[in-house]
Amino acid sequence: MKIIQCPEEMNEYANAIKKIHKISFIPTMGALHKGHMSLLAKAYKENPCTKIIVSLFVNPTQFTEKKDFEKYPHTIDADIKKLVEFEKQEGLKIDAVFIPKGATFYSDTEYPSLRAYTIEKQDIVLPKIFFEAEGKSRPGHFEGVFQVLFRLFHIIRPDFAIFGQKDFQQVLLVQYLQKQYFQFLQIITGDIFREPSGLAMSSRNMRLSKNEKERASVIYKALRNAKLFIEKEYETKNYISVETILSLVKNILLSESFIEKIHSIEIRKRMDFYECDRIEKNKKYVLLVSVQYAGIHLIDNILL
Ligand code: PAF
Repeated sequence: MKIIQCPEEMNEYANAIKKIHKISFIPTMGALHKGHMSLLAKAYKENPCTKIIVSLFVNPTQFTEKKDFEKYPHTIDADIKKLVEFEKQEGLKIDAVFIPKGATFYSDTEYPSLRAYTIEKQDIVLPKIFFEAEGKSRPGHFEGVFQVLFRLFHIIRPDFAIFGQKDFQQVLLVQYLQKQYFQFLQIITGDIFREPSGLAMSSRNMRLSKNEKERASVIYKALRNAKLFIEKEYETKNYISVETILSLVKNILLSESFIEKIHSIEIRKRMDFYECDRIEKNKKYVLLVSVQYAGIHLIDNILL
């Protein structure tokens, strides 16, 4: 497992690999958990002949608040250990881990050969859906994700990139980016990985106590109950009002005092992320929740 810190070196290394092999890329912000590992396993299972590259980079430009960025877990040494253990356990090889330095990653003067791979946040124009739902409570977040992936995809030029479905809107953003700039890239998505309690795995969960973690299962409980309610209603109806479902979810979430704020509860059409007043039997939707829970921002979703 080669560890690379310099973006120019990463670019040269990836270019050399690409002469012979395809590349599967798993971008992460570190603080690795079983959800990340399931993405790695999926990358390997779907394309066993590719070279695997993982990045560990807490991207400052996707945080709306500086405080949130500072509190985000930075656990590089532990992450490298986890990757080495995972290689042994699964009998797979991670070819390279890219760990750029935060302060200089975007610098054109530091890395002149990557100048063409820079996009300024203010020059990124995203469609309306990225200012809604999660985009509404985190201004600038999706532009920051776009900016970092634009640079990472250019540096590594992967053939496959793997993302978790927990960040549903992020997957839509990656698809948008892929259509615009990286048509050679295939996006693979991995299912949400959950704690036994139902809580969706997230690096942010590291900041919760055992008790807070247990009780955060209320988020998945609200999503599950809504899904069960919908299935029951569909036994006698062909459509259900969105308002009814949203208020059911809201009441369950509000029963937990650790929930400080509900940022959003949304039902959207799965294909285009458009809003709707009612859901119809045999059509595909997603129910998404975003909350402030015991001082941290948590999101989850369930397919309907
Ligand atoms: O999902 C994440 O961890 C991050 O948003 C990503 C895709 C690695 C970009 O920084």
